Amino acid sequence: MHEHSATPVAHGGLIHAEIEALGLRPDAILDVSVNVNPYGPCPAVLRAVLAAPIHRYPDPSAGLARRALAGGLGVDPAGVVVGNGAVDLLWTLARALLRPDDVVGIVEPAFSEMRAAATRSGARIEGFRTRAEDDFAVDLPDLDAFLAQQRPRLLYLCTPSNPVGIGVATADLLALAERHPHTTIIVDESFLSLSERHADAEARLPETIVRIRSLTKDHALAGLRIGYLATSPAIAARVEAERPPWSVNAPAQAAAVATTTPEARHFVAACRDRLLHERDALVAALRAIDLRVHPSETIFVLVDLGPEVAATRLRQALLERHAVLVRDATSFGLSHHLRLGVRPRADRDRLMTALRMELSR
Ligand SMILES: Cc1ncc(COP(=O)(O)O)c(C=O)c1O
Repeated sequence: MHEHSATPVAHGGLIHAEIEALGLRPDAILDVSVNVNPYGPCPAVLRAVLAAPIHRYPDPSAGLARRALAGGLGVDPAGVVVGNGAVDLLWTLARALLRPDDVVGIVEPAFSEMRAAATRSGARIEGFRTRAEDDFAVDLPDLDAFLAQQRPRLLYLCTPSNPVGIGVATADLLALAERHPHTTIIVDESFLSLSERHADAEARLPETIVRIRSLTKDHALAGLRIGYLATSPAIAARVEAERPPWSVNAPAQAAAVATTTPEARHFVAACRDRLLHERDALVAALRAIDLRVHPSETIFVLVDLGPEVAATRLRQALLERHAVLVRDATSFGLSHHLRLGVRPRADRDRLMTALRMELSR
């Protein structure tokens, strides 16, 4: 077995140098380390990408895409900003809104890029950590007290969360925003459309909230890079001012428009239904080999391996011996947990065979 590096992997997905060093071909790997819709992209979105006029400059601030995405949400296009994936927008938000020594609250464990971007902007991070004993549910009275005490400039909250997949009700978010108007709440809804709370995706939120949406997961456009945010026109203008012109390419803008068509919306709804069933089957299979699985509302699950099993070692063994790539949750502060993305049945069977062999169950 190769020595694993001291720095835990910060993200899922294939790392070319690692795969090459192991003599593996990318296509031979079963990748459950990312949470991308395995059935996408939708044909309507693919057609739009292929037809995009790449010989011309794209619209400097993605005007058509902004209008289409705003229409889908029923908000003012002036409050929408399009970026190269949600992560690009998190970094742009930090540049636009944070000054050195501002306080940023982060509901953790969480996708790590808000912490990284805020740190880079010189902000002071205050983590609000949810607990494994509570299945990482957000204790709202505790969060309320945390906000009253810290009065952060920004609060970052993912719903559903990553790596757990547990959500916060829209009504609770509204109440928090109302009680803490000095804090801009960044609600990362990157997995909302692929979750049981998908109806919340249509809910109206106040303009003190910045809603972040990725299109790389539900529409399987991880390599294309596309996402957007919706907020007040004033915040959107500050974010847009931090972005170079033409920074979102023409195929990505065309894809964004196509995701708002009825064909693409029905496609995502059908994929969600299928994937949530497949998630239930994955949870049952994992529990059948005595693994604790935290409840998830979306298309990935967080698995507790128990104190004897180190996630980093298991990731390495699964990759080297089975060409199965899982997300070691050590970088989330969870060194005995794996996050597993939901895949179709044949892939699930392959994953379970590999896990049973490595865990001797
Ligand atoms: C909660 C969350 N937000 C944002 C992202 C990044 O999304 P994108 O591919 O749109 O940059 C991820 C990726 O895993 C994520 O888990």
